[in-house]
Amino acid sequence: MRLGFIGTGNITAAMVEGLGGGVVLSPRGAAMAADLARRFPGVTVAESNQAVVEQCDMVVLAIRPQVAEEVVRGLRFRAGQKVLSLVAATPVEVIRGWIGLDLPVIRAIPLPFVADRRRVTPIIPPDPEVAALFDRLGQAVECRTQEEFDLLAVGSALMGSYFGLLEVAQDWLVERGLPEAAAKDYMAGLFANLGREAEGSGKSFGALRDEYSTHGGLNEQVFRVFGEEGGVAALRGALGQVLERVRG
Ligand SMILES: NC(=O)c1ccc[n+]([C@@H]2O[C@H](COP(=O)([O-])OP(=O)(O)OC[C@H]3O[C@@H](n4cnc5c(N)ncnc54)[C@H](OP(=O)(O)O)[C@@H]3O)[C@@H](O)[C@H]2O)c1
Repeated sequence: MRLGFIGTGNITAAMVEGLGGGVVLSPRGAAMAADLARRFPGVTVAESNQAVVEQCDMVVLAIRPQVAEEVVRGLRFRAGQKVLSLVAATPVEVIRGWIGLDLPVIRAIPLPFVADRRRVTPIIPPDPEVAALFDRLGQAVECRTQEEFDLLAVGSALMGSYFGLLEVAQDWLVERGLPEAAAKDYMAGLFANLGREAEGSGKSFGALRDEYSTHGGLNEQVFRVFGEEGGVAALRGALGQVLERVRG
């Protein structure tokens, strides 16, 4: 099965790294495409988006939602092809409408960690070929319902906030005199260890929060003040707004 990508940006690069090559790339994102073609065997850069479609059995849509309609409507697909869409907040029926053919369209949410083949990737609807592809990149999770897929998409939208939280804490520490590098290393190491603890433990997040918050202590105070000053409500509000957007 020949795999081709329309859009050669960050997520395409992560997938190509994880797969170790053997794909056709579209020319846009030229610097990234050239770099991938140089680093991995069997990676070719096609002359156009249409040339990618013509050379491949499975076409991966890895373009931003803002340009997706114009790009996909401009392509001619053929019977027997499969389309794997990574485009956020765009239902399969909408994409099939742009394609204009009754082809199988599967959605997935690969994250940058597929580059190291160490991350689960939600897909919908279930599809053995797409599941096998993401099993090579870590593990595929075949969602039972659209709602489940959309909720995982909302969860994945917290990546920027994770770094944003660290950025705010680092800036605050630096403003009060801690050297920037010391603040960064300390916070990054702290969160990396907490992540490992959360993933490896059978305990709930609530139980871990209790365990890591001495009664009346500093950790308990930070989360209490965070809630009192609207942090928890703001986070829930943001998740709700993103869910609306993800539903398309
Ligand atoms: N990054 C993530 O963690 C992640 C996770 C899951 C899903 N997604 C989804 O995956 C898609 C791609 O995300 P990304 O982070 O990889 O975006 P990105 O880094 O901005 O890459 C988008 C790519 O599309 C190219 N492009 C723009 N117009 C094009 C056209 N007309 N024809 C062909 N290619 C065109 C861009 O080329 P130029 O550089 O030449 O403009 C760029 O290479 C998005 O829909 C996003 O929602 C991303």
